[in-house]
Amino acid sequence: MERHINTIGVLTSGGDAPGMNAAIRAVVRSARAHDINVIGVMRGYFGLIEKEFIKLTSSSVSNTIQRGGTILKTARCTAFLTSEGRKKAYDNMVEAGIDALVVIGGNGSLTGAQLFAREYDLPIIGLPGTIDNDLYGTDSTIGYDTALNTIVDCVDKIRDTANSHDRIFFIEVMGRDAGFLAQNSAIASGAEAAIIPEGKTDVDQLAEFIERGKRKSKNSAIVLVSEAQKDGVGGALYYADRIQKEYPQFDARVTILGHLQRGGSPTAYDRILASRMGYAAIEALMEGQRNVMIGIKNDEIVYVPISRAIKMDKPINKELISVLNVLSM
Ligand code: F6P
Repeated sequence: MERHINTIGVLTSGGDAPGMNAAIRAVVRSARAHDINVIGVMRGYFGLIEKEFIKLTSSSVSNTIQRGGTILKTARCTAFLTSEGRKKAYDNMVEAGIDALVVIGGNGSLTGAQLFAREYDLPIIGLPGTIDNDLYGTDSTIGYDTALNTIVDCVDKIRDTANSHDRIFFIEVMGRDAGFLAQNSAIASGAEAAIIPEGKTDVDQLAEFIERGKRKSKNSAIVLVSEAQKDGVGGALYYADRIQKEYPQFDARVTILGHLQRGGSPTAYDRILASRMGYAAIEALMEGQRNVMIGIKNDEIVYVPISRAIKMDKPINKELISVLNVLSM
């Protein structure tokens, strides 16, 4: 059933990602262009449950496009996973006159949106906001490009020390269950190898890669390692430890980049992506769309059912694996 939308709510949820502010700004200004009121919900789904609402106008989002983090703050809210939490959230929304919701976040946040939309008659539009780039249906997520550039910047610096000391550096990057950050930062920084959850890692093969470089008079090596761990296997410490034990001739070190990957001013790419997606979220609502995530595929806006975006795996392009293998020789 289509209904008139007078007021929308917007929130950011899950891990912050550079470009979230650009997305909020685009949502607010596009909504205002249609005379729709905007309520900012603070701290993700917590704010819905605790009624932490603020009025947002076009000027509230001035001077935010270049800022990292999220002006609405964010959280991982377990209370929203309960039906009581969602009921409270819905009642608060009705009381505040919120007719539709825009959720900016990653897989967990959109999973919450999907549960909410199933129980209550409320249009929800999702925007993919996560540095992990692990949402199906969009070529890139908001924040991924910035994080990638941050990582490459760090790896370039670490390489100076790796070269000076003839060391092997295992650099751990985020990505939870997805290897996009590790694989692509390895290519962009000219690393010797990447260890990603989508691939199988054989320590002997890894050592062979490093040796291969040594034979060609490369005395240092950089290995990008995805943080993903399964049954105690995975992560930079694990692989550095194994290599050091099994190949004591290598001088291995570990750097875990951690949360510095999530901060910082968004790249132009992320600002444009977030602006287009935020604008598209309001267009989608105007068209009567509901429970879709905005994606961009081949430079075109697409509407992806949230149920698909969260369930389907987003595979790593196999070509990227060959590119790294060949070019790191
Ligand atoms: O989902 C984004 C992400 O940065 C993951 O890459 C990482 O595993 C996780 O969030 C870390 O979460 P937190 O900041 O809650 O420790």
